Formats: sequence, structure tokens, C-alpha cells
Amino acid sequence: MVLTGSDVAKHNDEKSCWVIIHGKAYDVTEFLPEHPGGEEIILKYAGKDATEEFDPIHPRDTLDKYLDKSLHLGPVDMSTVAQETKREDPEEAERQKRIAEMPLLSECFNLHDFEAIARRTMKKAAWGYYSSAADDEITLRENHSAYHRIWFRPQILVDVTNIDLSTTMLGTKVDAPFYVTATALGKLGHPEGEVLLTRAAHNHNVIQMIPTLASCSFDELVDARQGDQVQWLQLYVNKDRDITKRIVQTAERRGCKGLFITVDAPQLGRREKDMRLKFTDSGSNVQKGHKTDNSQGAARAISSFIDPSLSWADIPWFRSITKMPIILKGVQRVEDVLRAVEAGVQGVVLSNHGGRQLDFARSGIEILAETMPVLRQHGLDKKIDVFVDGGVRRGTDIIKAMCLGAKGVGIGRPFLYAMSTYGQAGVERVMQLLKDEMEMNMRLIGCAKIADLHPGLLDTRGLFVHSNSTPVDSLSQITYDPLVVPGQRIKAKL
Ligand code: HEM
Ligand SMILES: Cc1cc2nc3c(=O)[nH]c(=O)nc-3n(C[C@H](O)[C@H](O)[C@H](O)COP(=O)(O)O)c2cc1C
Repeated sequence: MVLTGSDVAKHNDEKSCWVIIHGKAYDVTEFLPEHPGGEEIILKYAGKDATEEFDPIHPRDTLDKYLDKSLHLGPVDMSTVAQETKREDPEEAERQKRIAEMPLLSECFNLHDFEAIARRTMKKAAWGYYSSAADDEITLRENHSAYHRIWFRPQILVDVTNIDLSTTMLGTKVDAPFYVTATALGKLGHPEGEVLLTRAAHNHNVIQMIPTLASCSFDELVDARQGDQVQWLQLYVNKDRDITKRIVQTAERRGCKGLFITVDAPQLGRREKDMRLKFTDSGSNVQKGHKTDNSQGAARAISSFIDPSLSWADIPWFRSITKMPIILKGVQRVEDVLRAVEAGVQGVVLSNHGGRQLDFARSGIEILAETMPVLRQHGLDKKIDVFVDGGVRRGTDIIKAMCLGAKGVGIGRPFLYAMSTYGQAGVERVMQLLKDEMEMNMRLIGCAKIADLHPGLLDTRGLFVHSNSTPVDSLSQITYDPLVVPGQRIKAKL
């Protein structure tokens, strides 16, 4: 039976919520509290055609993958669906003007430049999603500033004519010690999405970690691989372990070389900048004022996408379903690194999810400095590969992490900002800038290759002290988008 627009329009609130996507109706009532993007956004389209909002950022197979078949209600006669008239958006015209006046790519000399341009030119919602972090965003900023509490102790009179940045990560030889870490929703920033990262990673011979929640489908990202390019998979563990098993085994079959299980997100963090940008004034405070918008809060805790019951007891199961190396992403204390060794996993990423989860989580680089001496002391430093991410914006940051003993360094937002502003060319320039910065600074500290880097080249005494008077880092101060409080309403609606 073909449904009509008015059949669907009757189901227009949280008690019964149907939406149309690509000419088919779906009952998403039960799914509302589970939507990782929050329920408000779907409710905005309750009873209506949601294709335009859904399509640009969700892979085609999303509904088949996650929404039970019984809730796929069948085709809708689209000629009977009321067309919404679109309002002109004056902000969009301004944004287009700023895009037209963007600096040349060759005028971007460092990663902060891309962030500054992204802030001016990205759509508000996309900027909000990418740049935001949890609560007061203290960890977001600490991730970067922690690197400023580490100083170099360069060695002199070493032959540094030729610098070799290549290294090996989980058995793969790469041209530089950084990788593209997993970041969800690439199409918010660029219509082509994460395939651009795949292509750029290939051209620079670095590894890409594919996110579970990519905007491109997993197959698209694997199909975009060239030659013997290597990809890893980042996994959010679904409550339905059959779905998880399918995702993992598909990844292995399609050639992924590492399984990075995210362990720092039993509930998605509350990112206020993002929430404020998405807030829509629904009029009266009288009826809704008592209800806290929980689209990013409690409701997300029960999302089946990310199972909060995931525990150490699950690790043997993962080991039983895959031969891929297993790496825990989001480890935040040395005790858990030791536990990870015991659990028999091959690696950890010391990370706080780019400050998007627990505010006041320590920076990955600080945890690295805490971890490596303990691993060495126990003779375990060769038993487990330690990666680090968060706040890496300079070649020197990467060098510092490698000196401390990291196997590789993950970079998230800078690639997203470069992709959103200049597409693949932007991402490649970021990679090249990092390589150039690394090469120069390797020379200046007196090391010709990655294996020459060691902790003795660093002064980390200040790293663990969380207050200091290091000179202000002006570029990141400019690009840092301060949190704001609600403004006055021009005309109060009562
Ligand atoms: C039914 C209409 C839907 C609409 C209008 C919609 C819209 C959106 C929007 C606008 C976002 C971005 C959220 C943000 O900026 O934080 C989002 C995120 C997301 N949506 Fe949907 N969505 C829909 C259905 C679905 C369905 C059926 C799934 C399937 C599971 C899904 C999965 C996701 C995921 C995984 C995210 C990423 C969340 C995150 O990482 O924070 N969505 N959605
Ligand atoms: C927009 C955005 C989306 C992210 N999505 C995911 C994700 O889906 N899964 C995950 O494990 N980590 C995710 N992360 C965290 C990154 O993998 C990484 O830990 C973090 O971005 C590193 O910090 P950086 O952005 O300062 O480089 C995301 C980060 C950002 C900024």
C-alpha cells in the first residue's frame, strides 16, 4: 500500500513520529531517544519529509542497518506531500561572501590558519559540531596547552643532512608518525565527506582510522582506498552485539588492519556550544520551561549505539571474533594501560576524545608521560603499542609525543577544518605542513630519524603542574571560540 502525505502528517510528535526519507516512510517513535544526534532534530521533521536534513550526513544504508524492518512503513506518494517553502537565510548570503573572499590555500602556513578560516566560513551547525567539547571545554584547551609545558633539550653536532620521518604503526610502514583519527559526520563539513581524508591519507602514506559514525558508508571509504593503503576501524560498541560482530567482521574481511574500540564514551558528552547553535526558540517558556532539553543528555545515555555496559569482561569476546589487532581508544590512566596489557590487547590510544567527553580529563600527552616510565619499569613497553591524540597542532607536538615513546599520534579537528575549507587539497597541505615542521625541528633538536627520538630530549618537569605562566599562545587564542551565555531576547514572547 502506498501511503499519502496526510497519512504521515498525522504522526507528528514524540508519541507517534513518522518521517519520510527518499520517498519512504519510517516510524522512528521508539528510535527517538536513541538517535545519536538527539531527538529534537528528528522531531522537527515529525510527520514530514526529512530527506534534506538526513541525506547530507547519513550514509545511504543507515536506516537498513539500524532501524528494525518492521518500522520501514513503505513508499509514500510524494505528489501528496505538502512542500515546505524555504525562507531566505541572510546569514547564508554573508557566509557565501566570506567563502568568496577566503585566503589562498598557499597563504595557510600552519594548522591554526585552517581553523580560523573554518570558523569564518563553515556552516554554523557544522562548526558547532566539530569545534565543540564537553562542559567548560577546559580539557579541549588543556589538550593543546599541555604541549606547551614540555620544552626541548636539543643535542648538537649530529649529522642531520637527511631526515627520515618514516615509522611503523601496527606493522604498517608509514611516511610520518601521525594518522588521521576517527571523526564522525564528515559530510557536515564537506559534501564529499571522509573519502577526501582517505585520498589525502593515501597521497601522504599515512593511515586513516574509519569512524563507525562516518557520513560516507564504510564500503565507500574502503572502496576509496588505493594500492596497498592501510585503514583502521574505530568502533562504537552497539548494544546489539550481532550488529557489532557484523561491523567488525566486515571490516576485517574488507582489509582493515586495526580495531580501535572507543572506551571513553559510555555516554556522549554534553557539548554546549553545539547545543546552543542548534537551539530553536519554540516560543513560550511557560509550557516547556520545566523540561530540560535532554537531546544531548540523559537520552543519549541509553542510546543503543554506544553500549554503556561495555566492560573489561567483553574483551575476550572481541578477541574471539577478530584477528585484527585490538586497540583501546580513550585510555586515561596508567593503571588501565597495565590492565590492557593483561587483557591481551595490542595497543591503547591515550586520549580524551578531543575534550568532547569528560571535562577535566587530563591530556593524552600527560598520560603518555605518566605511562611510559611505568611500562619500561615493568619491561612492558615492547608488549603494547601506545598511541596518543588530542590537541596536536604542530610538528613539535608530534616530536614531543614520539620522544616520550608514542608509536603514533592521532590528529582529528585540523583535518576536518582543512577538508571543510579547501577540500582534499587542504587536508594534503596540512599533512605537508606537519611533515615540513617536523623535518625542520628534527634537525634543530639533532635527530635524523624517528628511532633517534628519546625522553632525554625533553624537559617535562612542568607537564604535571596544571598552572603555569607560559607565554600566551596567540594563534590558538584567536581561533578559540569562547563559550557564550544566552543573549537577551529582543521581543519576549509570553
Ligand atoms: C529520521 C530523520 C533523521 C534526521 C532528520 C537526522 C538528523 C541528524 C542530524 C542533523 C545530525 C547531526 C547531529 C549533530 O550535529 O550533532 C544527526 C546525527 C546522527 N544521526 Fe541522524 N537523523 C535522522 C535519523 C537517523 C537515523 C535513522 C540514524 C540511524 C541510526 C541516525 C544516526 C545518526 C548518527 C550516528 C549521528 C551522529 C551523532 C554524533 O556523532 O553526535 N540518524 N542526525
Ligand atoms: C567532530 C569530531 C568527531 C569525533 N568523532 C569521534 C568518533 O565518532 N569516535 C571516536 O572514537 N572519536 C571521535 N572523535 C575524537 C577523535 O577521534 C580524537 O580523539 C580527537 O579528535 C583528537 O583531538 P583533536 O581533534 O584535538 O586532534 C571525534 C572528534 C571530533 C572533533
